[in-house]
Amino acid sequence: MRVLGIETSCDETAAAVLEVGEAGQAGRSDVVHSQVKLHALYGGVVPELASRDHLARVLPVVDEALRRADTALFEVDLFAVTRGPGLIGALLVGVQTAKALAWSAGRPLVGVNHLAGHAFAIQLGEGAAFPYVALVASGGHTALYDVTGPDAMEPLGHTLDDAAGEAFDKVGKMLGLEYPAGAAIDRLARDGDPKRYAFPRALRQRTSLDFSFSGLKTALLAHLSKHGVPKERELSDVCASFQEAVCDSLVTKAVRAAEARGRTRVALGGGVAANSRLRALLVERGRAAGLEVRLPAPSLCTDNGTMIALAGYYRFRRQGADSLSLNADASWRL
Ligand code: KG4
Ligand code: ZN
Repeated sequence: MRVLGIETSCDETAAAVLEVGEAGQAGRSDVVHSQVKLHALYGGVVPELASRDHLARVLPVVDEALRRADTALFEVDLFAVTRGPGLIGALLVGVQTAKALAWSAGRPLVGVNHLAGHAFAIQLGEGAAFPYVALVASGGHTALYDVTGPDAMEPLGHTLDDAAGEAFDKVGKMLGLEYPAGAAIDRLARDGDPKRYAFPRALRQRTSLDFSFSGLKTALLAHLSKHGVPKERELSDVCASFQEAVCDSLVTKAVRAAEARGRTRVALGGGVAANSRLRALLVERGRAAGLEVRLPAPSLCTDNGTMIALAGYYRFRRQGADSLSLNADASWRL
């Protein structure tokens, strides 16, 4: 079956065509228009600007995805679109576009949970046999899921305040780095000493599978008020020590979740999954705990249409199509 996936939940307008069936899947195209430059000036995503840019870009991005996949609109078998969670205005652009396209092509439509997209993205590379524990860490969300099969996942824990990516971006802003700052902190940290500063790790109690990053952010702010904004070697040390605190919290809870559920595999997803230290630490500690660690290619970590097409296919197979009265749901919980 040929699936068109559309993603507009935050600051990426994305569309992709995926050929998918019992035997596996093959990507035919994957087009992403990032709004990063548009929002950089404001140090974060401005919802109204995001909606307007999605509106201007969504049809050209869909056209380009179909063209690269050598696919006509009527050759699409299923239209999959992110229905939530995300920014309501941004989501509405994708949902209304997908509804119009599905109606005009006379083909089924399915609404997809954005976090399911991230949790299943690992299946697009070398794959991961079910069941596995998925750690999804992005700019808007940070959560752990027990993924037991296609379209079957149970939440195990989530952040009580900031998302991990949000912490990277806000700390980056304090350090004078451009939004989004995750990749820049990752780069700067490579030359730094992660043990130089012992920044706090929240909620370390054994039973908790939740996260919290607001205390860490406050600790950074206090550090900068006392010592000033660092430069050069010192900047690298602060970045490395901050990054270590985030990655330590994420990996500790991911390994704990796998052990609590008796799972032997753990997978990553979401924009923060592109972080080099997070990847290395999960491999190191996961393997030490006897777990198989699955890491998606960085291009599948950040928001894209291919993961939405795959999660849409899973959902369609299990629950059938949604009606054309489908609506966006900004706070859709699994
Ligand atoms: O999944 P994503 O593309 O969009 C959301 O759904 O939020 O994630 C974007 C987030 C941003 O906060 C960005 O700073 C972070 O992922 N990010 C990183 C890295 N690359 C992107 N964080 C840490 N290290 C990276 N290498
Ligand atoms: Zn995302």
